[in-house]
Amino acid sequence: MPVTNPFIESKLKTADEIALLLPREVTIGASGFTPAGYPKVIPKAFAKRIESESSKTFSINLYAGASTGEELDGVLAKTGALRLRIPYQSNSYLRNLINTGKTDFIDMHLSHVVKYIEHGLLPEIDVAIVEAIDVSSDGKIYLTTSSGMSATYLKAAKEIYIELTDIHPIELKGYHDIYLPDHHSKGLAIPIHNVEDRVGLPYIQVPLEKIKGIVRTSVPDAAVEFKAPDSDCLQIAEHVLSFLQHEIKKGRIPKEYLPFQNGVGNIANAVLGSMAKDSSFHEIQMYTEVLQDSVFDLIDAGKLTVASTSALTFSQKGLKRFHENIGEWKSKFIIRPQEISNHPEVIRRLGLIAMNTALEVDIYGNVNSTHVMGTSMMNGIGGSGDFTRNSHLSIFMTPSLAKKGDISAIVPFVSHVDHNEHSTMIIVTEQGLADLRACPPKKRAELIIQKCAHPSYRPLLMEYFEDAVQNSPGKHSPHILSKAFSFHERFIATGSMKPRA
Ligand code: COA
Repeated sequence: MPVTNPFIESKLKTADEIALLLPREVTIGASGFTPAGYPKVIPKAFAKRIESESSKTFSINLYAGASTGEELDGVLAKTGALRLRIPYQSNSYLRNLINTGKTDFIDMHLSHVVKYIEHGLLPEIDVAIVEAIDVSSDGKIYLTTSSGMSATYLKAAKEIYIELTDIHPIELKGYHDIYLPDHHSKGLAIPIHNVEDRVGLPYIQVPLEKIKGIVRTSVPDAAVEFKAPDSDCLQIAEHVLSFLQHEIKKGRIPKEYLPFQNGVGNIANAVLGSMAKDSSFHEIQMYTEVLQDSVFDLIDAGKLTVASTSALTFSQKGLKRFHENIGEWKSKFIIRPQEISNHPEVIRRLGLIAMNTALEVDIYGNVNSTHVMGTSMMNGIGGSGDFTRNSHLSIFMTPSLAKKGDISAIVPFVSHVDHNEHSTMIIVTEQGLADLRACPPKKRAELIIQKCAHPSYRPLLMEYFEDAVQNSPGKHSPHILSKAFSFHERFIATGSMKPRA
């Protein structure tokens, strides 16, 4: 039975009708964080309208929480009218527009977006489009599988359109904890002292008159399917787990652990999957921005106590499981705005163990997570900077090779810096783990080359490092600047970082 009330009934429109109401030059603030909880039918109808009217007269700025699905990013990118996207994306068509200079993209720390919007640093939001499971007669909006930036966009927008979905059971109400600090005053401490603390409201209150249209939908989030972890992922997971045990023995992590933040993708999933199987891990808490299917491994193993996130990004099978247990799991999951899931104050207070993925790492521990060969955007920094800079322990993971061995993930100098050597602590590849804490630069270089680089690149890296130690004008962090990007230059020229025999 679909949710209803006189207000909903009075605002019902079709997606095509709503699409006709959107301005030609428009800044849209959309719900969605990863392919979870984003609007689908209004963007599609808007794209259809643009196509029929000629895209040249339209101009769209699109803000969301992070990446979204094809039905939002993909369809709007394909109109040719997308001028600006913030703060993170992972759509291949859009990525190509960004990397060919056709669409601007501002790659932002996800915890900074609220402040940028509230302080008017970006073009003003005309329209908020959000997916909801219910709207009350007095303007309470209940979001679906993500929180992201929705509260801020709803507040800032002049007009609001809602996709009211019946794809989730109504028991999803109550999963959200909407709380935002006041950026215009000095502000009080965010009162989250434990992962499970709920400090806000389960809905977003908006003025009724801003809601201009509601469309009923039944379109599911684009499901994320996961590959079974390969041997590299499992090796990386093994190194991480034995390091954590070592830290517990040393008393640097309490026996009952600290909450974990876990990045996206197959390596991150492999680590949680291995934790679920390893009998030395128990009673795990997550304070993270995205929960994926690997959280079910922890639940099945009876190890998950509570998980705070900004999005539930499940596969089709995972979503089915979530729906079957939606009542019982309300005490396990909390969905927060990204301002709070990624807030430095809370991350530092809770003392997280952050685990994220790098594209490349240099011999001194600088990490590039975003720019392929220094110039092409992959996805964005997302929350990795928020967590890396503020966690108790920050771990970066990557296979030591990419592109069938033509790329070494360990390079003399990263071609773009997202996380600098002052913030990174632990680097892990399938080859091994380098603990960089309290190491001077030359020691870091030795550890990273010996423990993390692939054997096929180790001699080349050692040769560069020894040359630098010998001939660098400064001996603190020795580099030969003319050769610092030699691996990248060789790849661009020949298709491989390996020298031709
Ligand atoms: N140079 C060039 N390309 C590289 C590379 C390198 N050093 N290392 C990996 N790649 C390529 C891979 O070959 C792959 O290419 P393909 O898509 O053509 O197959 C692609 O990059 C993705 O690599 P993959 O091994 O599949 O990694 P992933 O899906 O785990 O993603 C990141 C890795 C870094 C792109 C991803 O984690 C990311 O976007 N991170 C930044 C945001 C973030 O950390 N958020 C976390 C908070 S939740």
